Amino acid sequence: MNFLLLSVGTRNKVVQYFRKAFNKVGDVIATDASPLAPALYEADRHYVVPRITDAGYIDKILDICKVEKISGVLSLIDPELSLLAENKEKFAQIGVTVIGSSYELCEMSLDKRLMFKWLSEHGYNCAKTYTDLKSLSSAVAEGEVSFPVFVKPARGSASIAISKAYDTQTVELLMNHDKDLIAQEFLNGQEIGADVYIDLISHEVVSIFTKKKLVMRAGETDKAVSFKDEKLFCLIERFVKEAGFTGQIDIDIFEIDGEYYISEVNPRFGGGYPHAYECGCDHMNLILNNLQGIANEKNIGAYSEGICMMKYNEVMISEK
Ligand SMILES: Nc1ncnc2c1ncn2[C@@H]1O[C@H](COP(=O)(O)OP(=O)(O)O)[C@@H](O)[C@H]1O
Ligand SMILES: [Mg+2]
Repeated sequence: MNFLLLSVGTRNKVVQYFRKAFNKVGDVIATDASPLAPALYEADRHYVVPRITDAGYIDKILDICKVEKISGVLSLIDPELSLLAENKEKFAQIGVTVIGSSYELCEMSLDKRLMFKWLSEHGYNCAKTYTDLKSLSSAVAEGEVSFPVFVKPARGSASIAISKAYDTQTVELLMNHDKDLIAQEFLNGQEIGADVYIDLISHEVVSIFTKKKLVMRAGETDKAVSFKDEKLFCLIERFVKEAGFTGQIDIDIFEIDGEYYISEVNPRFGGGYPHAYECGCDHMNLILNNLQGIANEKNIGAYSEGICMMKYNEVMISEK
């Protein structure tokens, strides 16, 4: 039983963890568009493939699945999640399970406007979101929101082009310059990350790991500490089940005065997942069980509190 990881980039640890889980049953194959993606070289075998926007991309991945006798596949980058979900059937026809959420949920997770709409319609705490200057100005005038506000791209990632704006002039300058920006109520609180696995067979939330983010760097959690709160676990479970996510997801949450606000979802392994794994939340093994037809037992919060993660740089040396 072999597993395929797409667009591995610098996610070396994720490849290593999959190899550990699949050690006895098969190989882990990795792909990336660049031969300089270090995580490629952690896999049993790897392929340098066209970019995901290339017309022949999916066919190339399907070919690799056939040649390598792949049972399950997932991607580690946002723009590829919808593409995989869209082609789920093609993979199923050759016996490959796509580990991921539905096309609609991948699209909703990518678009902060759609996510806000869903969250507010379903009664979840979230940052009030304004998609244009007019609605923001009237909300400010009515006292619904006040400065500072948080401005970011509606379909952004990796914290690119985010800003905290303290006045109308700044928001106007930003939003007039780029129509795809949104303005949000500034959430002033503790940032939290959750790594969640939703069983592919039972559709139950079987594992949740939560951490307080201590230091952020270049859009990623640089230092964090594990913690547990039953209230948060219940909220995550309710949200994930109501929305219908499946497989691995990563959720950004804010805590303000004891209340939790859902900020965004990445329906994939997040950059901070090694923290969860090293604390005992082995989601690769949950995936392996599912691929073998075994439903996982619910085991939420199976880790210790107060365990810190500190990221640091590594280098890989290879011949060209
Ligand atoms: N409404 C907000 N209030 C305060 N900080 C925010 C808000 N939205 C985002 N941020 C900060 O910006 C970072 C990136 O925003 P996010 O919505 O997670 O976008 P992405 O990760 O897709 O770039 C977050 O991790 C958080 O630190
Ligand atoms: Mg984020």
